[in-house]
This record gives sequence, C-alpha cells and structure tokens, in this order.
Amino acid sequence: MKALVAYGSRYGTAAEIAEEIARFIQEEEVEVDLVDIRRIKDCDATPYDLVIVGSGIKMGKWTKGSLKFLNNNKSSLAEKKVALFVSCGAANEEDSQAEGQEKYLDEVAAKNLVNQPVATGLFGSVYDPDAKHGIAFNLTKRFFKKDLEKKGLDPTKRHDFRDWEGIRSWALNLTDLLKNER
Ligand SMILES: Cc1cc2nc3c(=O)[nH]c(=O)nc-3n(C[C@H](O)[C@H](O)[C@H](O)COP(=O)(O)O)c2cc1C
Repeated sequence: MKALVAYGSRYGTAAEIAEEIARFIQEEEVEVDLVDIRRIKDCDATPYDLVIVGSGIKMGKWTKGSLKFLNNNKSSLAEKKVALFVSCGAANEEDSQAEGQEKYLDEVAAKNLVNQPVATGLFGSVYDPDAKHGIAFNLTKRFFKKDLEKKGLDPTKRHDFRDWEGIRSWALNLTDLLKNER
C-alpha cells in the first residue's frame, strides 16, 4: 500500500501539516511520498492507493499548482481513495468553519474530482507577527491583529491555530481505511 501527500503552500503552513500527515502515516507502516507541488510539476498519482492533496487558501483560492495536480490526474484519481485538506483562517473560528468547508473543500471536490473524497480536513492557520511575506500578507496581518485583540490574545506573539491532535487523528482514520482493505 502506497500513499502520496501532495501539497501547495504559499507561506509554509499547509506544508507543515502535509509533513505531519506524511510522518504520521509512515509511522503506521504505510509507504509515503511527500511532494511539494511547486517543485515537482508533473506529479503522477498513478502509483498510489491513497492520494492526499492539500493547499493553503489565499483570497478564497487553492494554489494554482494543487488545482492543476487535481486536474492533470483527474482520471487516475477517479480510481483511488482521495482525501483533501486545506489550511485557512476560516478554520480558526467556529462561525466561519461551515463556509470554509463548503467553499474550500466541498466546492473544490465537486469541481475537480470525479468521485467524492474519502475525507476532507479543514485545518487552521498561523498568526506570526514577525513573518515577512509581502504586502498582501501584511494587510491580512493587520486584520488578524484586530481579531486577536478582540479575543483577548496578545498580537505581539505567534499563535498556531492548527489542531495537531485533530490532524493526526484525521491521518490515522485514513491509514485505517487503507489497512482495512488489505
Ligand atoms: C493574503 C492572504 C489571504 C488570505 N485569504 C484567506 C481567505 O480568503 N480565506 C481564509 O479562510 N483564509 C485566508 N488566509 C489565511 C490563510 O489561508 C492561512 O494563513 C493559511 O494557513 C495559509 O496557508 P499556507 O501558509 O500553506 O499558504 C489568507 C492569508 C493571507 C496571507
């Protein structure tokens, strides 16, 4: 049994989630390839039983590379177990999670996959006051800062909203799916 974890990440947050998922699946004795879609342009999903594809969200969008991967491999993914995940600000708040799930996961799955994914994961983001990622990033930082202040959190500190236990148990469910087929 072989799994692929392929991700698109602009600021590194989804990349770290992908790394953790791959590490965790490997510990469950499933062979895993971890691929940064930006680095490997023509990543082929054919050799894998399980394909996990993830992306960070910017202005409502997946990375171009991760969407291209889904489309380039559309027919081969139709034969496999596919799981999708995103890292986004919408996951950080209960109020915005349903919208995040619909826009960033359900709609993307409906548009880009032939079959329903076996799982979807809506994972949180990171606020880092010292990160330097350009103008768009700085603008959202200002918005986040206000939001943190409203919640009583210190905006001069880094906040990681990723639920690592939740991410690991999501990955564990996927390995269970694979193992039960053996
Ligand atoms: C310029 C910018 C735009 C963003 N737009 C959205 C958005 O539309 N919806 C959302 O839920 N999160 C948004 N976010 C938060 C990111 O999705 C979040 O930081 C995510 O972890 C980024 O993943 P990455 O580091 O893998 O690229 C935005 C962040 C930035 C910096």
